[in-house]
Amino acid sequence: MEPILELQSARLLMRQWQDEDLPAFAAMCADPQVMRYFPAPLTRLESAAVIGRIRGHFSEHGFGLWALERKDTGEFIGFTGLGVVGFDAPFTPAVEIGWRLAKEHWGLGYASEAAWTALRAGFDQLKLEEIVSFTAQSNLPSEKVMQAIGMHHDPQDDFDHPKLAVDHPLRRHVLYRISREQWLQTLHE
Ligand SMILES: CC(C)(COP(=O)(O)OP(=O)(O)OC[C@H]1O[C@@H](n2cnc3c(N)ncnc32)[C@H](O)[C@@H]1OP(=O)(O)O)[C@@H](O)C(=O)NCCC(=O)NCCS
Repeated sequence: MEPILELQSARLLMRQWQDEDLPAFAAMCADPQVMRYFPAPLTRLESAAVIGRIRGHFSEHGFGLWALERKDTGEFIGFTGLGVVGFDAPFTPAVEIGWRLAKEHWGLGYASEAAWTALRAGFDQLKLEEIVSFTAQSNLPSEKVMQAIGMHHDPQDDFDHPKLAVDHPLRRHVLYRISREQWLQTLHE
């Protein structure tokens, strides 16, 4: 299958990563508010390594976390996309949808707009049967994006993230799912 290198939504270009994205990406990942629901903010070196892993995922799978560029200003504002879940859990193997935006660009609907576009690529182009999403139980802004794009939550699916220590406050995660059928239904609503 052809790799999905680029997508577009009304206000966003979802593109491959450029070396020039590093300063803005590193600033975003060093921001304690953006990283509130992750174990820790990232150093510049760690952010560079994340970009490397994202590029590797695109090479291996033909899809991944697209860099988001605002069409009106040309600014890099974060990422949204699809990834193969990298740990074992009752719901894996699975493809997840995820997002992270710099806080100046929150509250404008960009995350949901990009997520909707990524979801459509997952079902329309990649022909996935299901897409999942998960986040720390306290991360309500992220859960709102999951709900906004029509994902469903069954509390019985919630799980302890295996990569976090047993006593870590962020360990408990909510899991949302959307099947191809459910996605098709949202198109007719
Ligand atoms: C999770 C995250 C991406 C959500 O960003 P967001 O901007 O709140 O999400 P959306 O794009 O859905 O925007 C929705 C908000 O924009 C508002 N909005 C403004 N214009 C809008 C438009 N044209 N369309 C939709 N919503 C719009 C909505 O009212 C809503 O505001 P509210 O939250 O005050 O109700 C952001 O908080 C983030 O990057 N967090 C840090 C990283 C993170 O935790 N990632 C997830 C880890 S699993």
